[in-house]
Amino acid sequence: MRFFGVASVTALLGSLACALDVDWSSDESVKSAASQVAYGLVKYYSGNNTGDVAGNLPDPYYWWEAGAMFGALIDYWVYTGDDTYNKITYQAMVHQVGDDHDYMPENQTRSLGNDDQGFWAMAAMTAAEANFENPPEDEPGWLALTQAVFNEYVSRWDTKDCAGGLRWQIWTFNNGYNYKNSISNGCFFNIAARLYRFTGDQKYADWAEKIFAWQQDLKFIDTDYTVRDGAGYANGENCSEVNGALFTYNAGIFLVGAAHMYNITEDGRWKERTTGLAKFTAKTFFKDGVMYEIACEPQGTCNTDQQAFKGHLSRWMATTAQLVPETHDTLSPLLKSSAKAAVQQCGGTSSDFKGPAGQACGFSWLKGPAYDGNAGVGEQMNALSVIYSTLVDKAPAPFTSKTGGSSKGDPNAGSKSDDGKIERPRDMTMADRAGAGILTTLVLAGLLGGISLVVSGD
Ligand SMILES: *[C@@H]1O[C@H](CO)[C@@H](O)[C@H](O)[C@H]1NC(C)=O
Ligand SMILES: *[C@@H]1O[C@H](CO)[C@@H](O)[C@H](O)[C@H]1NC(C)=O
Ligand SMILES: *[C@@H]1O[C@H](CO)[C@@H](O)[C@H](O)[C@H]1NC(C)=O
Ligand SMILES: *[C@@H]1O[C@H](CO)[C@@H](O)[C@H](O)[C@H]1NC(C)=O
Repeated sequence: MRFFGVASVTALLGSLACALDVDWSSDESVKSAASQVAYGLVKYYSGNNTGDVAGNLPDPYYWWEAGAMFGALIDYWVYTGDDTYNKITYQAMVHQVGDDHDYMPENQTRSLGNDDQGFWAMAAMTAAEANFENPPEDEPGWLALTQAVFNEYVSRWDTKDCAGGLRWQIWTFNNGYNYKNSISNGCFFNIAARLYRFTGDQKYADWAEKIFAWQQDLKFIDTDYTVRDGAGYANGENCSEVNGALFTYNAGIFLVGAAHMYNITEDGRWKERTTGLAKFTAKTFFKDGVMYEIACEPQGTCNTDQQAFKGHLSRWMATTAQLVPETHDTLSPLLKSSAKAAVQQCGGTSSDFKGPAGQACGFSWLKGPAYDGNAGVGEQMNALSVIYSTLVDKAPAPFTSKTGGSSKGDPNAGSKSDDGKIERPRDMTMADRAGAGILTTLVLAGLLGGISLVVSGD
């Protein structure tokens, strides 16, 4: 359990590293850089070793981050054509589906938040949209797995407090049950929008509209498209005290969802939302064209989870540029300038890195070639994602069932309720209470002091 995931800073802090050399005018050079960074990323993963569990990353990486990593590796294959990691990705994504085929495997269920489940669902949706190798005929397809999570989200939509929304956590006994947030509802919105674009089934569009409207009603998304983190609702707060923390992944998840909605509906409202979110993203999370995690990077206080967020935003910006050409000229140059800065950080040597010495990617792309001393799955995944995202103009757009997507669906997938998924807890330990969810807000609230955020484990 980590209150502050202050990244380990090696003795090499500040030393000049030999940056990864890339000729940005050559696709082959970009792909080769991506390949080196991907190698360093996958070195952290041991789930394909005999006796290890497929789909899990070792400590300190929570389960959600593995889901995010496999999603990023599918896109790696889509953008570069390199299928080196498809086999381990397939193995992991099939192994983790769980008994109910909904990415709530028993080993993870107790500490699962809506966002944790969502990152695996989004990876499954990416598999469907990429026409990734399908599971056997008698097993649920990527589409059905995503639909299962969607249906469970619908059953968890809670109108008792804050007039709707998903809670951050699923179980009453986990910290964050009394918090409704943009990332959990963003996962719901994201898969709703993508399921709509993929299947054309109106119910998904209706939910995307409803979730977006709810986010706006609560000012989690403001009229200028500022995307805020969330709000608590215990002690009668009713989500009125919005936590204004700004994270790249919150903006990105709504940006790319809105892009899917516009791409398929051609409705001007969705265009306005997409371009509005793109503008907010561009003005908030970039300094001199370089992406940074504004809430914690300047202070050096990003925790392990937060250290992976820029990679998600990179991928989601790239897909947005594909699906809404009007955003291309805003987003694409920012990806390119960020990638150029990111590779400068990819010549590090750190004891936290599992790949070859001199190939670790640091976290802060603002630091130029002065290696910031950080290394980890997030750092590696961020760099990988932003590097291959610069190839977006040559990559195929996400498929739909009409344009070649072959994944098998089941609109009724998922368990009807969460009852029976988990035994009532016995004695709560501190570890249980902390949950293994994405620890963003709690940490940040602690850092900023003043923000009142009521999150008591029941
Ligand atoms: C696990 O996957 C990696 C990456 O593809 C590969 O290098 C390694 O040999 C695999 N390990 C086993 C035991 O198959
Ligand atoms: C759950 O944990 C057990 C024991 O470590 C392991 O054998 C099994 O593969 C795990 N299941 C999943 C879906 O991760
Ligand atoms: C909470 O907010 C909703 C929506 O604004 C409102 O309908 C409800 O009456 C509020 N409840 C309380 C207890 O303030
Ligand atoms: C939807 O995305 C495709 C693929 O990139 C693109 O060709 C098309 O113009 C987009 N549609 C709209 C309405 O922007």
